[in-house]
Amino acid sequence: MSRILLTLYTVILLHQARSDDAVEFKAINSELFALFGDSVWLNCSTPNPKTYFESRLFTKDNAKGSNWVAREVVVDDWEISTMYCYLSPDIDDIKRPITVMAYALPSNVTIDMQPLLKEGEESTITCTVHDVAPQELLTINITRGGDVIDSKSYGGPHVLQRRTVGRVYTFTASRGDNNMNFSCEAILQLGREQKRTKSPDITVQTYAPPEFSERLCPSTLLLGKEKKQVSCLADGNPPPTVECKAFGRHIKNMEAVTGNMTGNYTCLATNQYGNAAKFVTVEYDGNIGSKVGAEVIVVLLTAIITSVWDVL
Ligand SMILES: *[C@@H]1O[C@H](CO)[C@@H](O)[C@H](O)[C@H]1NC(C)=O
Ligand SMILES: *[C@@H]1O[C@H](CO)[C@@H](O)[C@H](O)[C@H]1NC(C)=O
Ligand SMILES: *[C@@H]1O[C@H](CO)[C@@H](O)[C@H](O)[C@H]1NC(C)=O
Ligand SMILES: *[C@@H]1O[C@H](CO)[C@@H](O)[C@H](O)[C@H]1NC(C)=O
Ligand SMILES: *[C@@H]1O[C@H](CO)[C@@H](O)[C@H](O)[C@H]1NC(C)=O
Ligand SMILES: *[C@@H]1O[C@H](CO)[C@@H](O)[C@H](O)[C@H]1NC(C)=O
Repeated sequence: MSRILLTLYTVILLHQARSDDAVEFKAINSELFALFGDSVWLNCSTPNPKTYFESRLFTKDNAKGSNWVAREVVVDDWEISTMYCYLSPDIDDIKRPITVMAYALPSNVTIDMQPLLKEGEESTITCTVHDVAPQELLTINITRGGDVIDSKSYGGPHVLQRRTVGRVYTFTASRGDNNMNFSCEAILQLGREQKRTKSPDITVQTYAPPEFSERLCPSTLLLGKEKKQVSCLADGNPPPTVECKAFGRHIKNMEAVTGNMTGNYTCLATNQYGNAAKFVTVEYDGNIGSKVGAEVIVVLLTAIITSVWDVL
């Protein structure tokens, strides 16, 4: 009998609520996150002031308003707690769940990588996120110059306790990495909210020993009567200096020279990370730049080892 009356009462309350167009029986937030050890308010909007909570966490405080009831609980459990607000102490089957999860921000996020990288070689970045929880809500992003180059979201079943989580990323260093800032970021996705913790930045320098190419330093140079820019450059980081020598002759790069500079040159490119050498033949062709002249030029070009340079 009392059961029927209570049900009737509930129906009336809900009906009133609907006609007021305001109070619906629901959890204001069905999913809550709290720092481990902190407290959080469970809150249900309800037409019934006798609405009550069942919670497995320690109750710190209670509060109610004209159309809500709330309970403050202490979140000191790594298990996920599902708690309920019941519409009435006498009716068990009208209830709304509220899930509460404890989290912990990382105590530290560190990045480990060499700050000086050789272009073209493999390099490794190690990110370590210390004492974070829960692991399944964690994403580790690695950024280069602000762009994400690696992203790992853990997911999976609920992990109890704080964890230290590492992420290793391997890449091939390139000139584009020079002077770039690298960092690791830990992101905890708590419902719609994100908690981010970033490591310090590491500013990377890249280097490359000198290297000759036919494009930057042709093995054949033909000179005419006019002065002409002689260009023999080498690739490298930092940009190498290039000097070319022949018996009794010396051409600094980009020097304007005339036909009397013919010869078999050895060009040496140098920066602090190494050197490279190349033969360059400069010959005179009187037909170039004027109709007069007959000498024809032959060019020869070979990559040589540095010891040859010393012989000159
Ligand atoms: C519970 O929710 C109501 C409605 O949103 C709000 O007015 C009230 O302040 C909340 N109470 C607590 C303790 O958060
Ligand atoms: C974070 O880790 C770095 C490197 O291990 C250390 O130097 C620094 O003191 C740590 N910071 C904190 C707040 O623990
Ligand atoms: C982390 O990286 C992913 C994948 O690139 C991206 O969608 C997400 O927005 C990044 N998160 C943050 C906070 O930068
Ligand atoms: C790289 O990081 C350093 C140290 O955090 C900062 O001083 C510098 O401005 C950053 N450079 C760029 C290009 O963001
Ligand atoms: C080439 O000619 C220039 C000017 O005509 C002269 O100064 C220079 O010494 C000559 N070089 C050689 C190697 O003969
Ligand atoms: C350059 O080398 C070639 C081939 O060894 C040789 O025939 C030529 O005489 C040389 N030229 C000079 C100016 O030494």
